[in-house]
Amino acid sequence: MTDLPFPRPRPVGSPAGAVGLPEGTSGLPDQFGRVARDLRVSVTDRCNLRCTYCMPAEGLPWLPKAEMLTDEELVRLVGIFVGLGVEQVRLTGGEPLLRRSLAEVVRAIAALTPRPRIAMTTNGVGLDRLAARLADAGLDRVNVSLDTVDPEEFAALTRRDRLRDVEAGLEAAAAAGLAPVKVNAVAMRGFNDDSVADLLQWCLDRGYELRFIEQMPLDAQHGWDAGTMVTADEVRLRLEKRFTLTELPAEDRGSAPAERFLVDGGPQTVGIIASVSKPFCQACDRVRLTADGQVRNCLFSRAETDLRTPLRDGASDAELAGLVQGEVWRKARGHGIGEPGFVQPDRPMSSIGG
Ligand code: 5AD
Ligand code: SF4
Repeated sequence: MTDLPFPRPRPVGSPAGAVGLPEGTSGLPDQFGRVARDLRVSVTDRCNLRCTYCMPAEGLPWLPKAEMLTDEELVRLVGIFVGLGVEQVRLTGGEPLLRRSLAEVVRAIAALTPRPRIAMTTNGVGLDRLAARLADAGLDRVNVSLDTVDPEEFAALTRRDRLRDVEAGLEAAAAAGLAPVKVNAVAMRGFNDDSVADLLQWCLDRGYELRFIEQMPLDAQHGWDAGTMVTADEVRLRLEKRFTLTELPAEDRGSAPAERFLVDGGPQTVGIIASVSKPFCQACDRVRLTADGQVRNCLFSRAETDLRTPLRDGASDAELAGLVQGEVWRKARGHGIGEPGFVQPDRPMSSIGG
């Protein structure tokens, strides 16, 4: 990790016709001028909820342990990304809290130089017991996924009766100083589309920053339907029945994909992410590492680059860094949802990481 800048190995596995990574490239640029600085790491593909937009009721065949990166492997790879200019590391899953060694992983990432910001996306179950330990280990911020505060809706959406646990997790996160505590919600027709304003009021009352995300075609069951998706515009209209929303100027957003609005004149805000209906791909600075050691340049990419095999075969940091650079370089211009020829990725969201 300390031998950067390094002589870059020839890119491996470039698809025919793709322009190869130019000699001497540093950092993580792609062919369209974007630079990856935000690494999302899926630390496990397992989950203790079964959100309908993500998994079937019976769950999924989880990755075998031997295929998962060990803590040491994972931290070494994160260090290579940090050496390539990654500034923020977001731990995701599946449900990241199910990785028993999570606090140790956070501590090791916080010890990297330069120290990246460390965030986590969690469903909040179990966070009440872990928030303080994770904050102490170096976790800076959390996003808790919570789609509704109606217990029946919650049970129908997640197929588990765990709303109280999530509420306790949010409280513990705030108490541990993991601020600002953000809540992510997916609006689903027939499940919680009627109650989005209730969720916003609930978050405002507790000082949590709520963001709605359009449902994307990433469910393992391939049940996504453009026709029934609740769009960002629809969420906005539903919120505006109860609140006055004032759009914040785009420059306040940076590469963050949420359109943000002041609620009733502020200071609190709500975000609405139109990832499908108004894609933000041109500003995307993300790259992803799966729990089994594959780099993905996009949620929707159909290919990935294996780091685990070369890593276990003794590759150097410089060689692994070159593989990461090649993968990021090949990132497509956009996700192409809704375009002819769009094919959903084989990996479901739970094993890619949000
Ligand atoms: N579309 C949009 N968001 C999703 N999430 C999971 N699956 C989908 C999907 N198909 C969200 C979760 C969590 C984050 C990891 O992504 O609710 O907030
Ligand atoms: Fe679990 Fe997150 Fe998928 Fe829900 S969306 S089942 S919490 S991984």
